[in-house]
Amino acid sequence: MSPFELTRTLPEDATGAALRADVLQGLTRTPKTLPPKWFYDSRGSELFEEITRLPEYYPTRAEREILLARGSEIAARTRARTLVELGSGSSDKTRHLLDELTALQLYVPVDVSGSALTGAARSLLAERPGLRVHALIADFTAGLALPATPGPRLVAFLGGTIGNLLPAERAVFLASVRALLAPGDALLLGTDLVKDESVLVRAYDDAAGVTAAFNKNVLSVIDRELGADFDPRDFGHVALWDAENEWIEMRLRARRALTVKIPELDLVVHFQAGEEVRTEVSAKFRQDGVRTELSAAGMELTRWWTDEAGRFALSLATAV
Ligand code: SAH
Ligand code: AVI
Repeated sequence: MSPFELTRTLPEDATGAALRADVLQGLTRTPKTLPPKWFYDSRGSELFEEITRLPEYYPTRAEREILLARGSEIAARTRARTLVELGSGSSDKTRHLLDELTALQLYVPVDVSGSALTGAARSLLAERPGLRVHALIADFTAGLALPATPGPRLVAFLGGTIGNLLPAERAVFLASVRALLAPGDALLLGTDLVKDESVLVRAYDDAAGVTAAFNKNVLSVIDRELGADFDPRDFGHVALWDAENEWIEMRLRARRALTVKIPELDLVVHFQAGEEVRTEVSAKFRQDGVRTELSAAGMELTRWWTDEAGRFALSLATAV
C-alpha cells in the first residue's frame, strides 16, 4: 500500500459553491463579514507560515514549547495508533508529537488547503519513510467523516484555530469532535490565552505587515475565484481587541467609498468610506471557559498544560 493517500471528502465544485454562498451572504449583510477559512489558498497558507515566524506572533512558539515539554506524556497517556489533525497546515509542530507517538500507524491530516496538505505530506514522508499518511481535503466545520482507522485515536486541533470559530460554531464543532471519540480516544486542543491587550494587538498587526497581507489575501481569492475586481490597496488592515468577547477581531476597512463587481454572483457591492468587513475573530481563552465548552460537548478536561510564560495552553480531553 502507498504510504500516502489524498481524499477529497467534498466534490471539487463544493468548495466553489461554499465560497459563493459565503461571499454572497457575508457581503450583503450589515455589518459585512467573510469567514476566515477563505484566507488559505496556497498564497494564504504561505503567508500564515510567515506569520508563525514573526517576532510578534508568539502562539506558534509557545505551543511548540508545550509540545516539546509534554510530548512524551501525551504519548504515554494516549498510546495513539492514529493521529487525526484538524487544520493541520504545514504539520510543522506535529513533528514533535510524531517523534513521541511510538505506537502510531497512521497520520490523518485534515485541511481545506490542498497545497498545505500535499506540501506537508511530501516533507513528512521524506523524513519518515515508515509513516502512513491519509490526507483529507475537508472543511472541519461541515461535519467530520473520517475513514475507519486503528484506535486509540488522538484528535489534535492545534494552533488556537478553535478561536477562529464563533462561540455557537465552536459548540457545534466540539460536538462533532466528540462524536469521533470512542472510549480510549482523546482530543488534544491548543488554545491561546487571554493576556495583555498590547501583546495581543501586536501579534495581529505586525510591523512588517505580513498579517495585513494575509488579511487582504481573502480579497485576492475572491477576485480569482469569482472574477471580482477588489483592489486590496483600497483596504486597510485593522486588528482590535474586543474586551467583552475576549477576542481579537481582524477587519478590512475601505479607504474610500467604492463599488466592487462580483460577476460570478451577479453582484455589485458598495462600500462607504471607512466601512469595515470582519474577516476573522481569534478568541482567547481561560481554563474555566475551555473546561465548560468541552463539558457542554460531552468531554472532560483531563490535563491542562501551558508554556512557562502562561501565554498558550494545550488541553487533553476524553469523552464522558
Ligand atoms: N495547525 C497549524 C496551522 C494553523 S493555520 C498550526 O498550528 O500552525 C489554520 C489551518 O486551518 C490552515 O491550514 C487552514 O487551511 C485550516 N483551516 C481553516 N479553516 C478550516 C476549515 N473550516 N476546515 C479545514 N481546515 C481549515
Ligand atoms: C490559525 N489561527 C489560529 C490564526 C490566529 O492566530 O487566529 C490565524 C491568524 N490570523 C492572523 N494571524 C494569524
